[in-house]
Amino acid sequence: MLHLTLQAKLQAAVRTVLPDADVTHVLVRPCPDARHGDYQSNALLPLAKLRKLNPRQLAEQVKAQLDVAEVCEVVDIAGPGFLNFRVRPAAFAAVLQGAVRGEHLFFAQAAQPRTVVIDFSSPNVAKPMHVGHIRSTGIGDALQRVFRLLGHRVITDNHIGDWGTQFGKLLLGWKQILDRDALAKDAIAELERLYKVINAECDAEPARLEEAKQELVKLQAGDAENTEVWQEMIRVSQAQFDAIYGRLGVKFDHALGESFYNPQLGPVVEDLLARGIARESEGAVGVFSDGSVPPKEDVFLVNRDGEWVPDPALVRKSDGGFNYMTTDLATVDYRLKTWAPDEIVYVVDDRQAGHFKKLFLTFARWQPDAARKVKLVHVGFGKILGEDGKPFKTRSGDTVKLGDLLDEAEERALKAVTEKNPDLSEPERKEIARIVGLGAVKYADLLPNRQSDYQFSWDKMLALQGNTAPYLLYAYTRVRSIFRKGGLEATSLSAQPPVLNAPDEIALAKQLMNFGLVLEAVAEEYRPNFLCNYLYDLAGLVARFYESCPVLKAEGAERATRLLLCELTGRVLKQGLEALGIETTEQM
Ligand code: ARG
Repeated sequence: MLHLTLQAKLQAAVRTVLPDADVTHVLVRPCPDARHGDYQSNALLPLAKLRKLNPRQLAEQVKAQLDVAEVCEVVDIAGPGFLNFRVRPAAFAAVLQGAVRGEHLFFAQAAQPRTVVIDFSSPNVAKPMHVGHIRSTGIGDALQRVFRLLGHRVITDNHIGDWGTQFGKLLLGWKQILDRDALAKDAIAELERLYKVINAECDAEPARLEEAKQELVKLQAGDAENTEVWQEMIRVSQAQFDAIYGRLGVKFDHALGESFYNPQLGPVVEDLLARGIARESEGAVGVFSDGSVPPKEDVFLVNRDGEWVPDPALVRKSDGGFNYMTTDLATVDYRLKTWAPDEIVYVVDDRQAGHFKKLFLTFARWQPDAARKVKLVHVGFGKILGEDGKPFKTRSGDTVKLGDLLDEAEERALKAVTEKNPDLSEPERKEIARIVGLGAVKYADLLPNRQSDYQFSWDKMLALQGNTAPYLLYAYTRVRSIFRKGGLEATSLSAQPPVLNAPDEIALAKQLMNFGLVLEAVAEEYRPNFLCNYLYDLAGLVARFYESCPVLKAEGAERATRLLLCELTGRVLKQGLEALGIETTEQM
């Protein structure tokens, strides 16, 4: 957190020199090249440019006002006006000592905490959670964990798909062909079967489709029997979702499904019509282009055969039913009124990018004042591919159910753990396998840039070498084992300030210090992969450090310093993995 201290001092100095400057972008970051310094800032260049000042002169003036002697040995002005800070070893040591005392773990609470709603996971009732749901669930969970660590107020909301035309067919199936035993065994599988059978019949016979429609109309009109069956379908689906969330360690503050917003949908459309934001077209109601941007950038237009034609955001169908968009508009409205968030984050697959663009623009046209106060963000992600490069499927070509995938992860991990540790008891091996297996799946999903598709590979994600959860978990057990072997307690480590000498000690200490910056970057860009890569680098640095810096064989201050570095590396690994939703184990 030295960067925060330096940053605050630098901002104060800039304000003295340029009283009217906006200093929020005056940032201090680690120096990529240690020869130039430990931290740097290039924020003075844009400030000078804006004011047509000589950047080097500005840097001189700011430097003259800088009060960082306590932390820095030297402040250099480099190049056209960069500032490089060389930190005093004592300042480094004080930060490490504070950390080992438990005063901080290299990150600080946000100076301006934000209220952030995170909409993630959001599976659909009567459909199994499949492998794709690991993406929204894992990324969303990691983001909510990081936001909370940084002291933001987080509200998580599982926007379950519990409403829609599919319930006509499901109701018909439930009433006519339900197999109660199958329902008791695997409720969602039975609901899926009902849907498939009735759907096929509806495709073949218009009369059947009409029957299903009647069931839907009755449900929409609040018919008691249909409402009860529908609620039962939600209940049994939710129980299965909850089993998976339990395994994944994912919790939600709210699970306000789509149906929660039903009473608002009519009024939303009426309001959009009354304000002239939506209009009728061929019996339906939609929001159309307002011509404010060129056609190429206009999400309310699509190019068909070289011609731009309307592609409205539909909010009411010609049969009077409402759309996914209508529900989402009502949802934004509700969230703003209920929680007054600064930000609403939707962790939803990139195929819905167009939907969210339309949603955000429509909302801004509908409630411009409210829209200015909130940041609406679509955190999109790509697909999971099989090793053949095509969408990941089972051998028989079905989508992979998430529950089955997690089972297989644990089984495969158990095999590996058993090979490595045949002497551990079975419950111990199973517990380690659970942590390693689930961790491997989660980590493999969080590691790639979220927008790229990635290939699902059991061998890669379970490997002990490479950028994997097992590698990081192993690195964690290794630091922990030093304390076990040495019969040591971490509490004795804070007595004296550490003395960093060896280059690998310094490199490791510096990496630890960057933990907070990385967490901030994850929150800033909604990218948990930054944290994955940080932890991987940290594990690499500690491995190098063991090679060049014996720990238990060292003596005196050297030994104490090295132990302290081990202890803090362990804490950061644990906290970092936890922020990714990954549990740790003391042995593996
Ligand atoms: N249930 C939707 C689906 O499976 C995802 C919902 C995402 N959230 C939202 N507010 N639209 O596609």
